[in-house]
Amino acid sequence: MTEILNRQYYLASRPKGEPNSENIPSRDVPLAALNAGEVRMRNLFISLDPAIRGWMSDEPNYIEPIALGDAVRASVIGRVVESNSENFAVGDVAMTMGGWEAYTTLPAEALNKLDESMGIPLSNFLGVLGPTGLTAYFGLMEIGQPKAGETVLVSAAAGAVGSVVGQIAKMQGCRVVGMAGTDEKCAWLTEDLGFDAAINYKTCGDFSKAIGEVCRDGVDVYFDNVGGEILDAALSCMNKFGRVAVCGWISSYNAEELPHLKNLWQLVAESITIRGFVVLDFLDRFPEGVGQLVEWLVAGKLQFKEEIVDGLDNVLPVFMKLFDGSNQGKLVLRLPED
Ligand SMILES: NC(=O)c1ccc[n+]([C@@H]2O[C@H](COP(=O)([O-])OP(=O)(O)OC[C@H]3O[C@@H](n4cnc5c(N)ncnc54)[C@H](OP(=O)(O)O)[C@@H]3O)[C@@H](O)[C@H]2O)c1
Repeated sequence: MTEILNRQYYLASRPKGEPNSENIPSRDVPLAALNAGEVRMRNLFISLDPAIRGWMSDEPNYIEPIALGDAVRASVIGRVVESNSENFAVGDVAMTMGGWEAYTTLPAEALNKLDESMGIPLSNFLGVLGPTGLTAYFGLMEIGQPKAGETVLVSAAAGAVGSVVGQIAKMQGCRVVGMAGTDEKCAWLTEDLGFDAAINYKTCGDFSKAIGEVCRDGVDVYFDNVGGEILDAALSCMNKFGRVAVCGWISSYNAEELPHLKNLWQLVAESITIRGFVVLDFLDRFPEGVGQLVEWLVAGKLQFKEEIVDGLDNVLPVFMKLFDGSNQGKLVLRLPED
């Protein structure tokens, strides 16, 4: 019998700045025999998320850093090809925390079975019906607490999380302003998704001035996907009792030093609540969140974009699209079935 090899992209060294192929080389590892209770999946989709860059570092984070020598960690969806568990049969499809690899092998308890019979494209479970959709839903509703008539500002607004945040805020009766990095993304926000205005942060000049001009009544909720200078500028435009939901700081993930924020005093001056969160804080409410997102999708109230790119060997350059803004919505890598 020919030996089956598992192609993996693994963390050989911790990146300083942007990760490169020396930090993350590939290797082909023979598949070991399954232990009792283990299940092996051939991966069909690998989720590419900005957070993965943080897990490559050994700075304190909300989960353990990826250990040197391990495959780069990522959410994956795969089809079961071998099972030593009565809970999974060959052919089942499941989602789990796996890696940048062709096959993921784990104890059955670590896998969440997905129901293909519903006809939902599997990649949706990594995006709008998965971690990024849930981040948007819980982050906005629980931390942002939007109220009808308020102004909600969202950064990385054309991305997987941001685009859903803005649409949910519109459904709450808010005025919604997005910030994104190209005119095409801004046009998608206002013409297709119903945002009231969009700012191209790469061409607008001074951020505080640009936000102030578009948000003439100030900002009540800032959903922060980027951190850094945009967060600082948003703070200078917040209204009394405003809320800042700190979701992510993508502008700093490849930076060696965090930018100095000048407007933190606004937290005191305007009695602002600022709260960070990770979507896992709401783990016990995921069924509620998925239910609500499905309802909106089916009702045609929620639109989303996915960019699906083929080929495990493209994983690193495709991942880097998140940081130059060339991804169009939820970024997913697709692997061949056989
Ligand atoms: N807290 C949580 O549980 C949680 C969960 C999921 C995601 N997140 C965070 O949410 C944020 C968005 O994630 P996502 O998965 O939805 O990715 P995404 O928005 O689909 O893609 C990342 C986008 O970030 C923008 N960006 C990149 N570098 C930037 C910079 N220096 N300044 C401003 N914008 C920049 C780019 O869009 P432009 O073209 O507009 O620049 C890029 O397309 C990230 O910070 C991520 O870490 C947090």
